[in-house]
Amino acid sequence: MGYLSKFVGVSAALMLLSVSIVGAEEKDPTKPRVPAEQMADAKAVKNPVEATPESIAKGKAFYEGKGTCFNCHGKEGKGNGPAGAMLNPSPRDFTNCKFHKKRKDGELMWVIKNGSPGTGMVSLIPAAVTEEEAWHIINYERSFCKGE
Ligand code: HEC
Repeated sequence: MGYLSKFVGVSAALMLLSVSIVGAEEKDPTKPRVPAEQMADAKAVKNPVEATPESIAKGKAFYEGKGTCFNCHGKEGKGNGPAGAMLNPSPRDFTNCKFHKKRKDGELMWVIKNGSPGTGMVSLIPAAVTEEEAWHIINYERSFCKGE
């Protein structure tokens, strides 16, 4: 009996450990975040900043600097930054090309402005960055998708 309960206790601890290592999952990244009634307006907002290498470099500096985006989204954009590991749902994985295909830049801007309610993604304009800085960051976040 004593052996069995010890065994159960150890396996439970191991299960907990593996859960905390794997971390939380993303909330389905293919589903829109902008409320339906605001979607048309959000999609109509076009990125005024062309995704040149200069813009992407600026975006990286804001992402890793004053924007603090890397804290949650990770320096490699995988959604596994030091603060992101504690969040449920977990931060967006920007290396996922399927996600990028599902979103217009205007929708990403909407979330950076308004946050994604019920998640750790809070409104960051103007708290962390200006709108213009956020367009550069969007260009950088797009660049994490390397494939199709
Ligand atoms: C405190 C942690 C945290 C920080 C800091 C943070 N994010 Fe996020 N972000 C999240 C989480 C969590 C999600 C996932 C939200 C969801 O699933 O709806 C997310 C999702 C996103 C999305 C995806 C929205 C969509 O349409 O699905 C974008 C774009 C984004 N963040 C941009 C940024 C930018 C730009 C910054 C820096 C200026 C930033 N985030 C900083 C936690 C964070």
